[in-house]
Amino acid sequence: MAVDYSGLIGMEGFSDSLLNNHLSLYQGYVNNCNKLIELLAAMLKEGKTGTPEYAELKRRMGFEFNGMRLHEYYFGNIGGKQALDESGRLAKKLIEDFGSYSEWEKDFQGTGMMRGIGWAILYQDNMTGKLINQWINEHETGHLAGCTPILVMDVFEHAYITDYGLKRASYIQAFFNNINWGVVEGRLK
Ligand SMILES: [Fe+2]
Repeated sequence: MAVDYSGLIGMEGFSDSLLNNHLSLYQGYVNNCNKLIELLAAMLKEGKTGTPEYAELKRRMGFEFNGMRLHEYYFGNIGGKQALDESGRLAKKLIEDFGSYSEWEKDFQGTGMMRGIGWAILYQDNMTGKLINQWINEHETGHLAGCTPILVMDVFEHAYITDYGLKRASYIQAFFNNINWGVVEGRLK
């Protein structure tokens, strides 16, 4: 089931047409994910696990599932109007792990500016509690095992090209203006 993010429409710095297209793309990942689950269950029943078709569909799951889930993290962590609480847990943790908020921001935005299509993700390592900025290629390559996404930023061109053309930095600024820091802090352990 797709989550309803229509409440984000009207957000400053994001046109309605960009957001509506982006929400339709998200719906596509949900649909494909459901389809894959169905197809794989049918193949299992029919004893077709040894086939190349089964193997390719299994591989495809990494793309479709992460395409769905990362959009849920992304849409879930925007639409906020309040600045990061400077005395809150997250701010303290960013300072602890990166030296200062601005060092973290520089690294996160630098990750988001990398050439290619994918995602910039601030993760928390569940084993050590440490925060890490990471680049994900497309939807499925580069995830850190045992880490929880805390802040997720889409940097596929569809996330900004309608409003910002090739100016990814301007989109990243608009994204930062709309981060829902309360949600982000709530993901922290
Ligand atoms: Fe996207």
